Amino acid sequence: MQTSKLYLYPVWVRLWHVTNALMCLALILSGVSMQYSNPAYPFIPFNVAVSMHNIAGIILSVSYLMFFIGNWSTSNGKHYRLKIKGLVISLMNQARYYAFGIFKGESAPYPVSTEMKFNPLQKFTYALTMYVFVPLVMITGWALLFPEMIITNFLGFGGIQLTSLLHVTVGFLISLFLIIHIYFCTIGHSPSSNFKSMIDGYHEPH
Ligand code: HEM
Repeated sequence: MQTSKLYLYPVWVRLWHVTNALMCLALILSGVSMQYSNPAYPFIPFNVAVSMHNIAGIILSVSYLMFFIGNWSTSNGKHYRLKIKGLVISLMNQARYYAFGIFKGESAPYPVSTEMKFNPLQKFTYALTMYVFVPLVMITGWALLFPEMIITNFLGFGGIQLTSLLHVTVGFLISLFLIIHIYFCTIGHSPSSNFKSMIDGYHEPH
């Protein structure tokens, strides 16, 4: 069993992650305010929410570029590469551990190592979020910033309406990911140790 600390989060991952987390929080707060607030009593004044959303979206896009290039050019990218063979079994093994094994004191089926820093469920959700959800929310967001680029009609539906529907739906899925992500991050050596890892870069074994 691994007992010493492992250096798993290089500086660029931590810089990207803190920027990404803060911008996502700003986007969710301003997005929810624009979507649901009564214009007479907004959570955040409408024009402030619009500017906040636009600025945070631009910063998020720049930081995503940093993440994409970083993962493409360093060994961190290997942690996001999914293998179809055995995927379902490994996801089920990990889910079974989270549902039952962990409460019976079983040891983790996929212990953290420098070769495999994410368990199969983490790997799958991180890859899905970072290579499907975030690009989709960014592309639709940029399109809504320059609506003249959007086709006016798609199969009888308004192009802007469809783009906005996709943007809001994926934004909702990312918000859901965030809640689950933070909850699962509390499962570690101690409830706070994974959060410390994202500050100093070192993972403390379970
Ligand atoms: C307040 C917000 C957030 C907190 C407190 C937080 C916390 C953490 C922690 C503790 C880790 C290290 C544990 C691990 O590797 O699983 C981590 C990693 C990660 N988080 Fe977050 N997170 C937040 C927001 C986000 C958001 C919004 C996203 C994506 C949209 C995200 C995506 C990731 C990814 C992809 C990793 C793995 C990075 C790597 O090592 O390559 N996080 N997060």
